[in-house]
Amino acid sequence: MHTVSIKVNFPYASDVRQTHVRRIPQLCVLFTHLMYLSSQAEKALNCSFMKHVLSICFALLLTSLLPAQTIQSPDGRLALEFSIVDSVPQYQLNFAGKAVIRPSKLGLTLANAPSFTGGFALKDQQTATKNESWNPVMGEQKTIHNHFNELAITLLQPAHQRQILIRFRLYNDGLGFRYEFPQQKNLNYFVIKEEESQFALNGDQKSWWIAGDYDTEEYSYTTSQLSEIPALFDKSYDGNASQTIIPMGLQTPLMLKSADGVYTNIHEAALIGYAAMNLELDPKNFTLKSHLTPDAQGNKGYIQTPFNTPWRTIVVSDKAENILASKLILNLNEPSSLASTDWIKPVKYVGVWWQMFCPGQGSWNYADIDNVHLGITDYKKLTPNKTHAANNTNVKKYIDFAAKHGFDGVLVEGWNEGWEDWFGKSKEYVFDFVTPYPDFDVKMLTDYARSKGVRIIMHHETSSAATNYERWLDTAFRFMVNHGYNAVKTGYVGNIIPRGEHHYSQWMINHYNRVIQKAAGYRIMVNSHESVHPTGLHRTWPNAIAAEAARGTEFETFGGNNPDHTTILPFTRLMGGPMDYTPGIFQTKLDYYQPGDTRYVKTTLVKQLALYVTMYSPLQMAADIIDNYDRFPDAFQFIKDVAVDWDDSKILSAEPGDFITIARKAKGKEEWYVGGITDENPRKLPIDFSFLDSEDYYVATIYEDGKTAHYISNPQQYNIYQLLVNKKSKLTQQLAASGGVAISLKKASPQELKSLKKLKTK
Ligand code: NOJ
Ligand code: CA
Repeated sequence: MHTVSIKVNFPYASDVRQTHVRRIPQLCVLFTHLMYLSSQAEKALNCSFMKHVLSICFALLLTSLLPAQTIQSPDGRLALEFSIVDSVPQYQLNFAGKAVIRPSKLGLTLANAPSFTGGFALKDQQTATKNESWNPVMGEQKTIHNHFNELAITLLQPAHQRQILIRFRLYNDGLGFRYEFPQQKNLNYFVIKEEESQFALNGDQKSWWIAGDYDTEEYSYTTSQLSEIPALFDKSYDGNASQTIIPMGLQTPLMLKSADGVYTNIHEAALIGYAAMNLELDPKNFTLKSHLTPDAQGNKGYIQTPFNTPWRTIVVSDKAENILASKLILNLNEPSSLASTDWIKPVKYVGVWWQMFCPGQGSWNYADIDNVHLGITDYKKLTPNKTHAANNTNVKKYIDFAAKHGFDGVLVEGWNEGWEDWFGKSKEYVFDFVTPYPDFDVKMLTDYARSKGVRIIMHHETSSAATNYERWLDTAFRFMVNHGYNAVKTGYVGNIIPRGEHHYSQWMINHYNRVIQKAAGYRIMVNSHESVHPTGLHRTWPNAIAAEAARGTEFETFGGNNPDHTTILPFTRLMGGPMDYTPGIFQTKLDYYQPGDTRYVKTTLVKQLALYVTMYSPLQMAADIIDNYDRFPDAFQFIKDVAVDWDDSKILSAEPGDFITIARKAKGKEEWYVGGITDENPRKLPIDFSFLDSEDYYVATIYEDGKTAHYISNPQQYNIYQLLVNKKSKLTQQLAASGGVAISLKKASPQELKSLKKLKTK
């Protein structure tokens, strides 16, 4: 059931704020009088120039008389104050009476017209409130509450006779604001040089950050005070197939914690038609400023009015758990634009994938040559390299496994011609997305999959030749529909073509969104890799089912992911949307495949299980080579059982960089799943089962690290046992270094009530 109530001009709670509102009509009367006087002056002097000058003076005078405008969050804990100081718009955000964002300037500089950075007068202000709930197609909870108070400020630049609007929405969990450019005589088209939104923090803060970049987010996080960033910056990143570092830049979502324990998360919502935002740090004043991604000509956006920028989001709480529970970014996105969504389904999948990252286990390419021409090279005449993984026998084996264990899909990478020279050559016509290699019989395999109730998941690596992909898009999607594929994983490895564009510039943002919209037309779900940081657009386009857009599990094989990586990602990358992190690696050490190989996945096996709960995504991979699941069938049972779409989620405990424990209730079922993870430190996690929404007893199947488990020395040691729990039960669970705990909870049968032991209650 959706409940909606919209009140315009909501009644302010306190008298102080009422005075501001009441004063507006009086000031408007004054303004009208001044305009009348100016028209009289114009008549007397017959001089429109005079009128212009007078109206500017009067408007600016009017603004200087105005007090700040203030709104509060529905619970009154957050307060947003808007003011115009020396004709420059500013905002401030207070939490529990203290500034989290000190007075910060707003505006944009333009490349081809006077800027929107000053010379403003207040023209109008409107307040509104909204209190509704809505149901996402898939999500962490069945129903999302959207309750905010809004302040919409219309600003006039009298000197240029242009108006803009700044809209603020204040929720219990934070603030969103955006710029709106109405269509008007003096504002039809403009070019953005830079957005100048400031986020002036209240002093030095602990921060979980990756270096700003126009092309990649695939970095490990550094945890440091903001003041330490200049010394750490150059050491914070490693190489990537495409990267363009922003000096003193930080990526969003940026996670911060003040000395007095207030958590702040800065990001953006509804990134449409606009370049993605990074932040520039002034480490002396602890001020951050928006830094948009430029295009090939150095410009940051081509705008036609009417236009609204994405929202700038500031999630605030004194509890880390509330940051993870925040739905502010989703709420700031528009409701689903799809007429029907019954074809959008959660996906649990296995894939011909991880073997390409393990030494000697497989390759994407069919032949070991360096130069192929699509449509000309006759692959049947090439010598196969014998490691090509997407071959009929192997794919059938994966389909059989998926069918046997109840998986929805099988991802198959390296199925199509072109992988011999797929990236690093600035080649535009890399793939045609419709021509299989000779050993991949698409009709036989898709028929075989269908007969077993499984779908093959399409793979479109574009090698970042976005122009080529756009040319092939309809043909590629028609090919998918004709062969019964309903989901595609896209990829953007390497430098972008059109050359000079960046992964996060306006053109590419439009590209990613075009792909999602066009896919929706073919009823295709999209899981994009190396694409822009998500901004909650899966509310508007629910077929954008997941994305990578961060350092995923693949990096365990090139450079490694730190033990604290997955305790940070939910506070950063996942704030914008679900991540295809590809967990489930049981064979963590790569010397298993090649003696002497020192690479290893930096977790215990049990932590890999817990990630299915702590890393939310309605599309989850069991990423390991399937033979490894046959070696650990009891632990694999958790991956088979765990849900990927939820009726409810409870963040039980969390601290970025240290630990996360989450309980989630499976969609439409009386089943709960708990995942807890820790960083490199072993720790005891208290788990209080009071989240259970029934008085009944449940069978808890507990998957825990073994006594001497350790992510380096003993990653595969675990115990599995069952107990009865109810909402009064409490568990203190020991986690190994970079370990975890995973628990499934199903209602106990009369037989189980008799045979199983009860976990102690309070
Ligand atoms: C990078 C993606 O993240 C990975 O999952 C994929 O296998 C390769 N690109 C090849 O497309
Ligand atoms: Ca990647």
